Amino acid sequence: MLIKKAIEARKFAYTPYSSFNVGAALLTKSGKVYTGCNIECASYGGTNCAERTAIFKAVSEGEKEIEAIAIVGAEGEYTFPCGICRQVIVEFGKKIKLIIAKTEEEYKVYDINELLPNSFSPDDLK
Ligand code: THU
Repeated sequence: MLIKKAIEARKFAYTPYSSFNVGAALLTKSGKVYTGCNIECASYGGTNCAERTAIFKAVSEGEKEIEAIAIVGAEGEYTFPCGICRQVIVEFGKKIKLIIAKTEEEYKVYDINELLPNSFSPDDLK
């Protein structure tokens, strides 16, 4: 279900510069789903990845507890979250599951700790 939502969200990707479309969908602990796509900007640094779009939508609506995030990028390939997105993901849970999908049938599941080991996280500031 999350992968399907990510594939749907990818349709909204705004990518006039890279044409590399990414979709993401996350599930919160409360059972809500938030989706996101990548949104590019003529001043390239203003670009926002799909994962962060979904996370920022959730957090800005009061949902900070995330269980899982599905990510779909290039057709037929696995697209892993960039370093900045990994850091933002770990901000909202060290046990978040990442579902990296080609299709609804073909996917891999990782723990954020596998993709960002020994992370600097909110725990370090306690
Ligand atoms: N992109 C994402 O949306 N998520 C990632 O984790 C990797 C990169 C986007 C950003 C940019 O719009 C395009 O892919 C090419 O870097």
